[in-house]
Amino acid sequence: MGELVTDPFSLFDAWFAEARASEPNDANAMALATADAQGRPSVRMVLLKGHGPDGFVFYTNRESRKAGELAANAHVALLFHWKSLRRQIRIEGPVSLATDAESDAYFASRSRDSQLGAWASDQSRPLADRETFEARFEEVKARFEGQDVPRPPFWGGYRVTPERIEFWQDRAHRLHERRLFTWIDDPGSVSGAGAWTEGLLYP
Ligand SMILES: Cc1cc2nc3c(=O)[nH]c(=O)nc-3n(C[C@H](O)[C@H](O)[C@H](O)COP(=O)(O)O)c2cc1C
Repeated sequence: MGELVTDPFSLFDAWFAEARASEPNDANAMALATADAQGRPSVRMVLLKGHGPDGFVFYTNRESRKAGELAANAHVALLFHWKSLRRQIRIEGPVSLATDAESDAYFASRSRDSQLGAWASDQSRPLADRETFEARFEEVKARFEGQDVPRPPFWGGYRVTPERIEFWQDRAHRLHERRLFTWIDDPGSVSGAGAWTEGLLYP
């Protein structure tokens, strides 16, 4: 690892750039772990669609199972695993809704089929069969014929505000390197001021 960086976002950018250059597909795929009000966990893959010091953004159906869990418990964990680079990044913190403007802009950038798919999908709810889903897709296709597809009110982004980011790199003899960055709030700050501190963990 050895990069001379002191903030986790520059290190994330460097690793993400390497992953994009070397992974055959979906370098932005990450596992998203949520827990329900009783603390029972669930995990699934989503795609990272925006990131920076203000957080890590993904998009989904806001009536899905994950959305229900996020409403009951805002704390999540994200995990990137880039197998061929032998690296993982773990991110933990609370989620909040991305703004409407941000969700609109991302929705508008998607392909028309993906936009129609968002309207057609009742994510996480059982459907009688695949044909029902395809019929719904045709129905929304006809509904929005000849016009831009608006963002469905039940679809949008979530932003994870990181409190803990850990970079793991495989090393010889199982002496893996782990760099843990933790956000420490300034005592008494109401404006969200604080700083990242870094420590090494042992395998
Ligand atoms: C590589 C990969 C990327 C995915 N990306 C997304 C995504 O960005 N948003 C999303 O809602 N579902 C995505 N999915 C589907 C989810 O894993 C999941 O099946 C779906 O969101 C329903 O999850 P839930 O029932 O826990 O809400 C992706 C699946 C895979 C395998």
